[in-house]
Amino acid sequence: METINLPKASALTSPNPVTLVCTRKPDGSTNLATVSWWTYLSFNPSMIAYAMAKTSFSGEMVRENKKVILTIPGAAIKEAVMGCGMSTGRNTDKIEKLGIEMQSVPGSDIQVPAHTRVAIQCTLKEFHEVGDHYLYICDVEQVFADEKEEAVFAWNGYAKIATAKQGE
Ligand SMILES: Cc1cc2nc3c(=O)[nH]c(=O)nc-3n(C[C@H](O)[C@H](O)[C@H](O)COP(=O)(O)O)c2cc1C
Repeated sequence: METINLPKASALTSPNPVTLVCTRKPDGSTNLATVSWWTYLSFNPSMIAYAMAKTSFSGEMVRENKKVILTIPGAAIKEAVMGCGMSTGRNTDKIEKLGIEMQSVPGSDIQVPAHTRVAIQCTLKEFHEVGDHYLYICDVEQVFADEKEEAVFAWNGYAKIATAKQGE
């Protein structure tokens, strides 16, 4: 085996999972950000975690509001999923810019994309500094699904968003 670094390892482990992290902005609208670094943590109680760069606007929003929905986007919006990872919601309305159709979920004022396979509605429990990221540990409140939507993954490191079938 040869010695490599962690970014190279993350490319070699692709396809990696991909989510759109949905948070509430001060004006009540929703911000979307692409996040690959998320994981299930516990089924009982239901908990998940994800890591975001310290500078991310989404991080600021979840630290303030304590509410977040992680969604697994459907294949119909794979270009928009890449777009949500290329700009910050601090000064851009990504939903309008990328033309993403949204839907409401019961019990939340945060919207999620209409093309969503799974939506995991969470309350922030705690967050920890981990190097250049914060790790957000969340209690899961409700989970929604639409099995007709096909899940997407991040391929070639984080260069391409595609379904498991389309990726290769
Ligand atoms: C495929 C892909 C995966 C990404 N995964 C992560 C991630 O796991 N954590 C992270 O902090 N940023 C990740 N990003 C970058 C963020 O989406 C990007 O910094 C975004 O501008 C943050 O938006 P915000 O400032 O509105 O929160 C990823 C981008 C792409 C395209």
